[in-house]
Amino acid sequence: MSKHSNISVPSANVFSIDEVQRFRNETAGCSNVIHLNNAGAGLMPDVVTEAQLAHIKLESEIGGYEASARMADAITEFYTQASLLLNCKPSNIAFTSSATDSYTRALSAIPFVPGDIILTDNDDFVSNQIQFLSLQKRLGVKIIHINNSKEHGGVDLNDLEEKLKKYKPRLLAITHIPTNSGLVQPVLAIAEIYHAYRQSNPDNTWYILDACQSAGQLKLDVRELCCDFMSITARKFIRGPRGTGILYIADRALHAGLEPMFIDMRGAEWTTPNTYKQHPEAKRFEDWEFAYATVIGTSVAIKYCLAIGEVRIRQQIRYFSGLLRDGLYAIDKVRVLDIGPELGGLVTFTVEGSDPVLIVTELAKRKINVVPSYRAFGVIDFDAKGVQWAVRASPHYYNTTNEIEIFLEAVKDIIE
Ligand SMILES: Cc1ncc(COP(=O)(O)O)c(C=O)c1O
Repeated sequence: MSKHSNISVPSANVFSIDEVQRFRNETAGCSNVIHLNNAGAGLMPDVVTEAQLAHIKLESEIGGYEASARMADAITEFYTQASLLLNCKPSNIAFTSSATDSYTRALSAIPFVPGDIILTDNDDFVSNQIQFLSLQKRLGVKIIHINNSKEHGGVDLNDLEEKLKKYKPRLLAITHIPTNSGLVQPVLAIAEIYHAYRQSNPDNTWYILDACQSAGQLKLDVRELCCDFMSITARKFIRGPRGTGILYIADRALHAGLEPMFIDMRGAEWTTPNTYKQHPEAKRFEDWEFAYATVIGTSVAIKYCLAIGEVRIRQQIRYFSGLLRDGLYAIDKVRVLDIGPELGGLVTFTVEGSDPVLIVTELAKRKINVVPSYRAFGVIDFDAKGVQWAVRASPHYYNTTNEIEIFLEAVKDIIE
């Protein structure tokens, strides 16, 4: 059992040596670097790279519009794959250019009026929080934070229930796995509370779940999670291309007529000089123009992820992140910062008397990829922990135990 979570960590590798070797043979980057920055961007499998290159080549050979017309089936396949990933219909899926792009499209669709309340958690993603503050400035909405549980650090479920009833917020906004900590929020329990609340307040509140760091790392089922919107990117644990985002929009939101603030000619049809008609499906939230190579690359990446299976992926990541945390606990001057009812694949730590740039640069010299995080990435969380910075290491299923050991030895070496 981990010191800071009440869910036990697997005690051995989930994938066989042969399976891991196959994953690594299928990923060019594995022979160049020890990649522990999957929470930044995962290494793409070669099939994802090749699918994108093939499309760019086709565009150069026959023309961009002509290439997307010829590849129409592959493009449609993206919606099928994304719906399989999230357990919804293809008509609930919109393609965007990043998780933030997905999020702001959804946020812009919420019919806020002055005095409305946004109820959110203390570990919600930094850009979401800045956007709420911007809405506060422009529209006079109020932001209320749900307390963290004193016992485990994630959302205090009693406080959530009370605040939902007391404030009847226009928006409930939760981040599943924050960018700067190992915390995994208890989203199934949150879904139950939200679902029960909505029975007596059917129309007023919308729920957006930022699942940017959880997609590809653990199984997401929008029906169980009971969210109205979910924002993700493909470039992290799904191992898709950069410049990609997916937005799930529930039928409830589509049927209510919610639409992004700056709906374009993909999302709507201009019917008379003074009117337009919304697209009936989630494409209402898309733009006309896409980099279609990334749409196809995302589709291939999701298919690759689903073939391996998120249940096994989650277990393997928990095993590696458990090894990382245990190894880091044992190093003098290192403080592991992760606290939560369950800990995920983002391992964060700080080192007394050191500095993050030095650690990250020294690791990079050894071809080990990790990133620094700063207080501005999570003001509430960093202040509660009393730290200014952290280093984030985020393993994936294609890493090896040997790589984890090399990383731990390198950290020891750098600190000494
Ligand atoms: C929890 C979380 N949400 C949202 C985002 C934003 O994703 P993107 O950079 O694709 O906009 C990130 C990025 O790291 C994240 O960690």
